[in-house]
Amino acid sequence: MGFPSERPRRLRRTPALRRLARESRLSPGQLIHPAFIREGLQSPQPIVSMPGQSHESIESLCTTVEETIGLGLGGVLLFGLPAAKDAQGSGAFADDGVVQQSIRALRTRFGDACVVIADCCLCEYTDHGHCGFLLDSGEVDNDATLELYARTAVSQAEAGADIIAPSGMMDGQVAAIREALDMSGFTDTAILAYSAKFATVLYGPFRDAAECAPRSGDRRSYQMDPANQREAVREAMLDVEEGADMVMVKPALTYLDVVARVRDATNLPLAAYCVSGEFAMLHHAAAAGAFDERGAVLEALGGIRRAGADMIITYHARAAARWLAETKE
Ligand code: PBG
Ligand code: ZN
Repeated sequence: MGFPSERPRRLRRTPALRRLARESRLSPGQLIHPAFIREGLQSPQPIVSMPGQSHESIESLCTTVEETIGLGLGGVLLFGLPAAKDAQGSGAFADDGVVQQSIRALRTRFGDACVVIADCCLCEYTDHGHCGFLLDSGEVDNDATLELYARTAVSQAEAGADIIAPSGMMDGQVAAIREALDMSGFTDTAILAYSAKFATVLYGPFRDAAECAPRSGDRRSYQMDPANQREAVREAMLDVEEGADMVMVKPALTYLDVVARVRDATNLPLAAYCVSGEFAMLHHAAAAGAFDERGAVLEALGGIRRAGADMIITYHARAAARWLAETKE
């Protein structure tokens, strides 16, 4: 027998063979577009920290969502910037809050044609910028926060959200939200749990865009230590037990090992959030001429799929869908 006896290159010979032997795929229906809606805005305003992204008015959000439907995207994730902030973050659970109004507008306009996911947290709505209710000591009161999350989730479900996505990393948040939704009759509203959300510098551009940086201190008493992999699996398993319908790992590119571990640990759909800092790394490196943005983004998103994520939340969702539509191979 001649050497070598194994020849993996046989399956790489032609584009058609490579396509046939491909192990993982990326398609627009797996991508989720995050949107920022600012209360009182009349027309969209570019977000300086995130080139190509905008603060939307409710009207411009509808135009963007129409575009995402046309591109075949999987859904949109809504973040709100209220006109006023207070200690409790009451704009998060106001009936006429900016996200509640946005969800109603999308439902009226598009029916069920778009999956609407509502981020459920307080940091964009609190004057101190933390994700939970703050005690005088500067500590976040976990259990008092759960009640506010429950109110927020119910008001978002009432407005017509398909999925509630709690992102504050409080203990017991999924169980508290599930119970509140069920008690209010929203048994069919799903929960996408931000299960393993790490305390990272990569949220920088988002905090700028969402105006939600903490005034003092940081988020390390609730978001996870970037060094921990096993704890991420534990967090995901707790959310599964508490009734999550889907789980998430965030960020994505710097945490692909965590994506793979959580993939093995649960059969629930798994999302990965390619965050603002990751968007910025790809965008600015391409703008500086390091590589072609299209190639880099499709390879990065493909890598997140290969690691085991079913769906990806990314600011490149619309661009990627367009690039995929042009891709022949
Ligand atoms: C706030 C929230 C953050 C992100 C999503 N929800 C920022 C933070 O926790 O400080 C980050 C998303 C991104 O960077 O793209 N709960
Ligand atoms: Zn938050």
